[in-house]
Amino acid sequence: MAKLIVYYSRADENYFGDSMRYVEEGNTAKVARMLSEIIGADTFEIKQKTPYAKDYETCIKEAMADLQNNARPELVEWPENFEDYDEIYLGFPNYWGTMPMAVYTFLEKYTWLRKRVYPFATHQGSGLGHSLKDLRKPCRGAMIMKGLAVKGENVDKFPENVKLEVERWALYGE
Ligand SMILES: Cc1cc2nc3c(=O)[nH]c(=O)nc-3n(C[C@H](O)[C@H](O)[C@H](O)COP(=O)(O)O)c2cc1C
Repeated sequence: MAKLIVYYSRADENYFGDSMRYVEEGNTAKVARMLSEIIGADTFEIKQKTPYAKDYETCIKEAMADLQNNARPELVEWPENFEDYDEIYLGFPNYWGTMPMAVYTFLEKYTWLRKRVYPFATHQGSGLGHSLKDLRKPCRGAMIMKGLAVKGENVDKFPENVKLEVERWALYGE
């Protein structure tokens, strides 16, 4: 079984419970890195051609507009030989209960028949939201496996605990 970790994440200014901070690597990217160390899979980052603003407030407005317009932001690049992977670990931040619109751009490009999709999200309180349901349409034909939700600020504050959570999910399906 060839595994690929595909994830979307945003660095720059983010909200960490009690404070706003600029970070060099987003929460989902960090989880994707932990996961890649655990399962040893290739990794691909979904990047949009026009990234959202570095400051949080503007980013929120831009991402909200994309959601309301059901936009499909253009991507910088695509993975090679995507057809060869049968297990896709799909990571994203929860944006208003669903995935960032660029993730939809990615999902709608491919045929998912017989692939297994393992969704993981970082969030600030609403877990996976309705993303598991939202995945079904663009990933028609795929088997959507148990998802993992990790609180974003914990990735930063308690990385060892998060690593254990990721391990339990990825290795034992817990
Ligand atoms: C545009 C936007 C919308 C968000 N909407 C939600 C939400 O509806 N529920 C939630 O729990 N967190 C929400 N968050 C918080 C992010 O899911 C959380 O900070 C996540 O860890 C960010 O991941 P990243 O650092 O990989 O980009 C939102 C963040 C942004 C920037």
